[in-house]
Amino acid sequence: MRLDKTKFALILLLFFLFTFPLSAQISAQKKQPEIERKVTLLLSKMTLAEKLGQLQMLDGEANGKFRPEHLEMARKGLLGSTLNVRGAEMSNELQRAALESRLKIPMLFGFDVIHGYRTIFPVPLGEAASWNLAAMEKSAHIAAKEARAAGVHWTFAPMVDIARDPRWGRVIEGAGEDTFLGSKIAFARVRGFQGDDFSANDRVMACAKHFVGYGAAEAGRDYNTTDMSEQRLREVYLPPFKAAVDAGVGSFMTSFNSLNGVPSTADSFLWKTLLEREWNSDALVVTDYTATMELIKHGVAADEADAARLTLNGGVDLEMVSRTVNQNGEQLVKDGKVSLAEINNAVRTVLRTKYKLGLFDKPFADANLEKQVVFNAEHRKFAREVAAESFVLLKNERETLPINKRTKEIAVVGSLANDKKNMNGNWTGDGRPEDPITVIEGLKNKLGNGIKIRYEPGCDTKCEDTSGFAKAVDAAKDSDFTILVIGEDGDMSAEAASRSNIDLPGKQLDLVKAIHATGKPYAVVLMNGRPLTINWVAENSPAILETWFAGTEAGNAIADVLFGDVNPGGKLPITFPRNVGQIPIYYNALPTGRPFLDKEKYTSKYLDVPNTPLYPFGYGLSYTQFNISNLRLDKNQIKPTENVKVSVDVENTGKRDGAEVVQLYIHDVAASLSRPVKELKGFERIVLKSGEKRTVAFILTPKDLSFIGRDLKPTLEDGDFKVYVGNSSDSGLEETFTVSRTAVVKKKLN
Ligand code: NOJ
Repeated sequence: MRLDKTKFALILLLFFLFTFPLSAQISAQKKQPEIERKVTLLLSKMTLAEKLGQLQMLDGEANGKFRPEHLEMARKGLLGSTLNVRGAEMSNELQRAALESRLKIPMLFGFDVIHGYRTIFPVPLGEAASWNLAAMEKSAHIAAKEARAAGVHWTFAPMVDIARDPRWGRVIEGAGEDTFLGSKIAFARVRGFQGDDFSANDRVMACAKHFVGYGAAEAGRDYNTTDMSEQRLREVYLPPFKAAVDAGVGSFMTSFNSLNGVPSTADSFLWKTLLEREWNSDALVVTDYTATMELIKHGVAADEADAARLTLNGGVDLEMVSRTVNQNGEQLVKDGKVSLAEINNAVRTVLRTKYKLGLFDKPFADANLEKQVVFNAEHRKFAREVAAESFVLLKNERETLPINKRTKEIAVVGSLANDKKNMNGNWTGDGRPEDPITVIEGLKNKLGNGIKIRYEPGCDTKCEDTSGFAKAVDAAKDSDFTILVIGEDGDMSAEAASRSNIDLPGKQLDLVKAIHATGKPYAVVLMNGRPLTINWVAENSPAILETWFAGTEAGNAIADVLFGDVNPGGKLPITFPRNVGQIPIYYNALPTGRPFLDKEKYTSKYLDVPNTPLYPFGYGLSYTQFNISNLRLDKNQIKPTENVKVSVDVENTGKRDGAEVVQLYIHDVAASLSRPVKELKGFERIVLKSGEKRTVAFILTPKDLSFIGRDLKPTLEDGDFKVYVGNSSDSGLEETFTVSRTAVVKKKLN
């Protein structure tokens, strides 16, 4: 095919937009000549055993102390890094041993600082529901500040896996189902952890994980196989990782799954072709926990030596916990199965990272700083704000919420209401089970002695024993209002916590029904790390507030929202299905040739459940109302190199101040590949006073309008695009514009 000039210019433009976004080129990502010289010199002095020591990370912590054998290994220069060692005192002691080694190469301390170090923020999926990128960046920064002060240099976060299957327990760790939102959040979180320079004493190196496709595990079962076209991989699953690279992410982690038959830890396509060559990144690549060893069980490595060979030749640098590289590296080099150059490359990356982190200059943590920074009042205050912003009001019939502060007697039902530990959710960093504020404590903090609170657990979270229901019902009957706190416990999601049934656990629904039967007013407060199938509750309960696991300040934040001191404004970052049979269900699916038509037999549907979800992506209510009107485009016909400006007016027509997330979606009507029915391409969270009206404008760029074509390259084709702007993925005003290479007419609409 001959390229005409416009097409050539467009391909060039898209290539640059995808390859070098304006935000890219952050210093942490660039090689620095001075560091390269130091690395070369150091490398030239190292024995092969010392090199293999740098390629090993061990799990260092046991019962609050590092493992004594690690002290010895560090002293001999045979261990380069650990995970889980933390706290200034503990990390400094191990660091001192490393600095007594022949070449005095400092240790690198990694830790899973996923949603806070000691001050715990909402679980990542919950935080994503705030759609507040600045808040997410700030919470990551606070986590970094605390972690670095405690001697941690490196967090294994953010998890940027797109996840469209709520059975998979690890949906809790990411930003949900959408690539656009997920990429923005990936960028914000990496910036929050690292800033411009992760050697600073309030920053840590971030890690984009798990590369890649881990969130698409078949049947939602953790560690399971993933299989997808490269087109889908590039369009849906890679962009958040690329966004992390653009933010300067210092490291990547392999994933446990195989993708199209190749386990990530042995996949040179991911590490050499994509990350290194296509994305031009020198990020340190660490395996997931024992993932190298697991290549044997995956059936691609014959034995440990073979697993080490695949890992090293695949382009991975650092082995976490299993010791196949360390134990077999020398022999592999002797046998010519791995080149010394390959090993040197990996060691180079580790050493470069240690220089970039400033460890050679400042190897020790400052115990005084640790005392000042960790879990301080300012951090907790912010955790309370972020927690409240993460809540999603799913239902609020007849303004059941907020609860009137003049209410005399309140019943609080559900064991999660009196639970500290579970408020931290999963991956709790150094958060202590005794730290969080419970719902009961939060209510007491807010209401003092003004209201009588009667607490009845009803049952525990597993809810197999219903003997406490009667007392809970009595409490509800005797009170003016009941707060019913139900959901999962923290261990029911995250790693190795897939569920085939995502209903409320045990007999919790019967508890809801029993409270409902009293006929008294009540609101459901949900806690969970994934979407749950809660049809009966959605249909019958008057009010539902989704609070995820909200962290250290959970109880205070929940009280803030229940009593109207904070107006909820969160929006779902993931679809809530009606039943597991609908899974995978996500808003930006491709159309079918036979879209659902009522009363037509041969259309795409189920016989027993509608196609629509229980709650769609982007959905969430407020205590006030917003009116979005006057959708307008600055042009209704553009050339493929041009932008379109999309504007709407947003008015808070209710009585309270509040936040709304205005969302822009597009649909490419006819293209060479079938395009999703809707795709998020812009959002803005705005806070409006009661009665206030504001114009919100978005710029749609050629990059927003393009897709990964059959040739696996970004493609923008002529034709019509629909634009929708609303406050959820299933609502919105609609307009159309046309992309045309021969466009001459440009109608100005504003
Ligand atoms: C296994 C998990 O998959 C990964 O996300 C985590 O960072 C490592 N363990 C280290 O704890």
